[in-house]
Amino acid sequence: MRKIEEILDQYAGRVNRQLEVCLPDESSPPETLHQAMRYAVLGNGKRIRPVLLYATGEALGVPSERLDNPACAVELIHSYSLVHDDLPAMDDDDLRRGRPTCHKAFDEATAILVGDAVQALAFSMLANDQANSPEQRNTMIQLLAECTGSQGMVGGQAIDLASVDRQLSRQEVEHMHRLKTGALIKASVLLAVIASGADDPDTHNHFARFAECIGLMFQIRDDILDIQSNTETLGKPQGSDEAQKKPTYPSIIGIEESESACRKLLEQACLEMESVNVRWDTLKLISQYIVTRAS
Ligand code: IPE
Ligand code: IPE
Ligand code: MG
Ligand code: MG
Ligand code: MG
Repeated sequence: MRKIEEILDQYAGRVNRQLEVCLPDESSPPETLHQAMRYAVLGNGKRIRPVLLYATGEALGVPSERLDNPACAVELIHSYSLVHDDLPAMDDDDLRRGRPTCHKAFDEATAILVGDAVQALAFSMLANDQANSPEQRNTMIQLLAECTGSQGMVGGQAIDLASVDRQLSRQEVEHMHRLKTGALIKASVLLAVIASGADDPDTHNHFARFAECIGLMFQIRDDILDIQSNTETLGKPQGSDEAQKKPTYPSIIGIEESESACRKLLEQACLEMESVNVRWDTLKLISQYIVTRAS
């Protein structure tokens, strides 16, 4: 069996090479915007969404070449969401992926434009993806738009901002997490399902529910690390949630209950995959990594 480090290296390395090529050159105008786009995307990210996308494709027998553009698209949307998430009007953080946030290295206006342009680039990667059929491209664009927009990641971010200094119920935090983080993780898995051409609803639904479990788990782990880890390991400011008075899983149910919620979600995720007739050992290792990761 392969090691998780090997899997992360392989797939993160693959998407990094694609991103390097798809982002506009720093020397092409407008130079500062292009420099800032490359700065925001080509940093030290874990690339977990592309990794999940490639691993889902691996389970379904899709050649990685058919997954390169969708993998870039999800990472571009994610990187744009981080640039905006860090802005003073949102979480007001100064450090991201171990270096100054985009608005600190450049300026706020540039960071807003970086998010806008990187999002547009994500959709053009899907629209121009010759490795998949026009029908598949169309379905992918629709899915990524839904998972990104006001009923997906952006909607979750709106709930997050409206929740500052408020006491949410566990269900309300769960809903917020499913949108702000879960939706894009679900898109990552389902884009690969679309590329595979597996069109039976049963397979689709098992992968969708698997992705929902690990998406929620991912954000609960992020909340725990914000309390338990340190700024150097995280590459972003530890304690940001408390400083910003954000309701999180641990702030509402405590660390132990949050860890137990992660374990239950992992079990549930595994049950979903056991019901699909595919080799999912790589997805299992990634799921385990998501709940145990240190950064
Ligand atoms: C951070 O995501 C934001 C969340 C949705 C929790 P990651 O932890 O995937 O950040 P990078 O891409 O590795 O920097
Ligand atoms: C971010 O959640 C979710 C996004 C959609 C970017 P957080 O605000 O907790 O992410 P970090 O901790 O800043 O990476
Ligand atoms: Mg935030
Ligand atoms: Mg944040
Ligand atoms: Mg966080």
